[in-house]
Amino acid sequence: MSELLKVLSVSKTYKNGNKVVRVLKNISFSLEEGEFVAITGVSGIGKSTLLNLIGLLDTPDSGDIVLKNMPYSTLSEDEKSEFRNTHLGFVFQFHHLLPEFNIVENIAMPFLISGNNIDDAYKKAKNLAIAVGLNERLTHFPSMLSGGEQQRVAVARAIVNNPDLLLMDEPTGNLDPKTGQRVMDYIFRLREMYNLSCIIVTHNIEIASRCDKIFSMETLEKEDV
Ligand SMILES: Nc1ncnc2c1ncn2[C@@H]1O[C@H](COP(=O)(O)OP(=O)(O)O)[C@@H](O)[C@H]1O
Ligand SMILES: [Mg+2]
Repeated sequence: MSELLKVLSVSKTYKNGNKVVRVLKNISFSLEEGEFVAITGVSGIGKSTLLNLIGLLDTPDSGDIVLKNMPYSTLSEDEKSEFRNTHLGFVFQFHHLLPEFNIVENIAMPFLISGNNIDDAYKKAKNLAIAVGLNERLTHFPSMLSGGEQQRVAVARAIVNNPDLLLMDEPTGNLDPKTGQRVMDYIFRLREMYNLSCIIVTHNIEIASRCDKIFSMETLEKEDV
């Protein structure tokens, strides 16, 4: 296996008025290609902050992140957007599907935006919709789906561009446990099909235990000396 991601002593603070909140302190870890890693930790500890940094949605105060040998600190703002669209896929707690587009169109959207032709995009999206068990819902709109089905569409959409790394922030956090497990079953099935690498933030110990590794945020942090 080769190294996919390196998080190198990353720190992040936020300013709330004139108060400085230190959220991440010298976080370091790495991920091999094909690995599935769970990140756990209490609410407010900085899990989403860390995922946003890895997802190029925010910038660390110090330290660096390297994905596919590309140090984020060397990228311009334009290069960051390009790199994000090419290499990363995102699933959040809320699906953020486009209500006026059907399931296949929603899944196809990032692939179309990347400049692929419409026939290829719909074909690929249809295959992904089938892979997440939505073969009978292809032309349905998001509002016609259950919460679990909507989240399965969001997962399919996140991998349509073949990302090198899939980032999932509490993807089942808004679902009942049984529905959440079902969504995870599809995610693990896609993992087998597409050899996905993934970081998943979750409070669910059952989900975390299905991953290759569990990182607890408490143990990732190193205090300054
Ligand atoms: N944009 C922001 N501005 C100020 N504080 C923030 C911001 N985003 C997050 N925080 C604070 O940083 C801490 C970590 O937040 P977050 O990463 O969302 O935690 P988690 O995902 O583990 O629940 C919290 O105390 C939160 O209030
Ligand atoms: Mg969070």
